[in-house]
Amino acid sequence: MNHSSNSPPILVERMSLLTIFTHWISAFASVCALSAIWLRELLSDDAVRATILGVHRQIGLTILVLWIIRLVARIIHPKKHSGEPLTPILKLAAAGSHVALYSILLAMPLLGWATTNAQGHAVLLFNLLPLPTLTAVDPDMVDTLQEYHKWGSWALMGIVVMHFSAALWHHIFRKDHVLAAMIPLVKPRTNHKFNSNQPL
Ligand code: HEM
Ligand code: HEM
Repeated sequence: MNHSSNSPPILVERMSLLTIFTHWISAFASVCALSAIWLRELLSDDAVRATILGVHRQIGLTILVLWIIRLVARIIHPKKHSGEPLTPILKLAAAGSHVALYSILLAMPLLGWATTNAQGHAVLLFNLLPLPTLTAVDPDMVDTLQEYHKWGSWALMGIVVMHFSAALWHHIFRKDHVLAAMIPLVKPRTNHKFNSNQPL
């Protein structure tokens, strides 16, 4: 282990519970939103397909609500990276992937919402609260928005695969506490390896 005798131990902290909770719920909700659409493709009964699309919309809107909560959580509890200095390249990669994730997680529900309005349907949050109409009814607009929504879903899957790989890389190869800090029941790792204050 790379102990530095003269530098004091650096406090390693877990993410706030709100950040952890909203992260895992929205990760799970994203998988459910995609699975619902894939399941719908396999079915032919119109009523069941309509129900599944309704569920898809509500899960997608939940992701939008969580997006707002996460942003507030990030402002209230700024991220702590104490004990693990990153090289400028790694810092840029982490910031870039988080911006990409946040952008796509905002764009997807808004595109779905606008598609629904362009199809001539109102959007109700949790099937209760009417949301404002984003676009007029317009079949051409439906096609365009659906294309964006579809390509956005591929982009989301691509970014999540990279994000997942990065989390595993941190845990298995860099052996830092980035993943543990996002998992409620795992004890955060010590920071001995990073106690030299040398960026890795
Ligand atoms: C992160 C959230 C979301 C994800 C990942 C997602 C993903 C998808 C995917 C993969 C499709 C199939 C695209 C295709 O192959 O054409 C789709 C279709 C659709 N989604 Fe979403 N969606 C999300 C949020 C929403 C929301 C919030 C709404 C509406 C309020 C919505 C409404 C729709 C509609 C209307 C379709 C077209 C279904 C059809 O008629 O074929 N989506 N979505
Ligand atoms: C099993 C899969 C996943 C793992 C292991 C994982 C792990 C992590 C970890 C360790 C962090 C903290 C990174 C850091 O401090 O720099 C993080 C942040 C983040 N993850 Fe994931 N994640 C997963 C799935 C997802 C999915 C599916 C999404 C999007 C739908 C997502 C969106 C985000 C976002 C937006 C952040 C930044 C959080 C913030 O600081 O507010 N993650 N993830």
